[in-house]
Amino acid sequence: MKWLLCIVFIYSSSLLAQESLELIGERLFRDGRFSKNFYDASLGQINQELPSGVNLGQSVSCFSCHRLDQDFTDSGRMRGYNDDLAITPIPYRLEDGRTHTFRNTPSLIGIGSRFTQNRFSHFDGEMDDHKQTVLGNFTGRNMGWIKSEKNLALKQIVKVIKEDNGDFYLGGEFGGAYSKVFLGVDPEIPENIRLPRENRLDVFSASDEDIIKLVEKCVDSYMNGLDFSKDENLNYEGSPYDQFLKVNSLPMSPLDGENINDYTIRLRNALSRLDSPRFIAKKYFNSHQREFGFNEKEWEGLKKFFNLQSSGNGQCFNFIILVLLKWNTMKVLVMVHLIKSISLKILVIKAGLTFF
Ligand code: HEC
Repeated sequence: MKWLLCIVFIYSSSLLAQESLELIGERLFRDGRFSKNFYDASLGQINQELPSGVNLGQSVSCFSCHRLDQDFTDSGRMRGYNDDLAITPIPYRLEDGRTHTFRNTPSLIGIGSRFTQNRFSHFDGEMDDHKQTVLGNFTGRNMGWIKSEKNLALKQIVKVIKEDNGDFYLGGEFGGAYSKVFLGVDPEIPENIRLPRENRLDVFSASDEDIIKLVEKCVDSYMNGLDFSKDENLNYEGSPYDQFLKVNSLPMSPLDGENINDYTIRLRNALSRLDSPRFIAKKYFNSHQREFGFNEKEWEGLKKFFNLQSSGNGQCFNFIILVLLKWNTMKVLVMVHLIKSISLKILVIKAGLTFF
């Protein structure tokens, strides 16, 4: 029994540790004081609140673009950490004249999913890992900083963390001043916000680099925690597709140690043996304001998607397999595709095969 208690305790304290990183990450994600707008308007007084937005005198946070409930009272709509614009406004800078992002703001839900084995970020794979978007944004154009101001932006992160007095930007709900929360010892800090010992930091004696690393880690943990609803076995359970897999005893997730590619092949094999599937009746989804189910029509679509029919219509599965190949292999494939000369193509394929 003692052992059991011990295991339960270790398990729950590691859950709490994870939760604290995520909660601090949420606060940082929603804090607009890292933006150039705030830097300019605040004149160094970081403990004041400015309205959120991209215009002069407003402050920009990750949450300004990756939106959740900000528009709920006006439109009754929740978002999934995205916006509904074709391209998103950014703070204006005379130096480059840009007013908008190149692409729209995508949802962040599910980006840390254990199914996502390739974690490269942005639609063009600009970054190898979502983690890189944290400093990329805190010091980049979305928050109003131009390239030559990177060091200034990093200094602003350190300044906000050191000088915050906990009065604004969720400070009250999230344990008070950043310096107190990062130190993690004050008995007033709620247990779910208390950082695990190995992550604690005295910001007044720590290096700027260590402060910035902790900020990055918290926001990364927060983003990784933004996921769809899961059952006790950590399988997704919310959509009719998930329920279809479950009622037909189809594999719902990779086994321990199985990669996503092998899982997809195992699922496809199981689907190809499924002669009389059980379907999921349509149900009204409040948040989407429409019905979804998994019936004959969806089953036909799924067979096409997985290329289960001999008609050869469905190529999505082949495409997915391609995407699931290692990132480096993808790069070689893109190169091969772009090269016009046949002999050069062959050379690159050979070099690629030798490498991977
Ligand atoms: C001004 C708006 C804006 C702000 C502020 C912003 N983002 Fe984004 N974000 C975007 C846009 C637009 C994209 C799509 C970029 C692309 O694909 O080229 C994006 C993409 C991302 C992605 C990649 C998602 C994917 O599936 O590839 C992540 C992760 C992300 N942002 C995290 C953050 C974090 C963390 C912050 C704050 C530190 C932040 N963003 C601030 C607009 C914004």
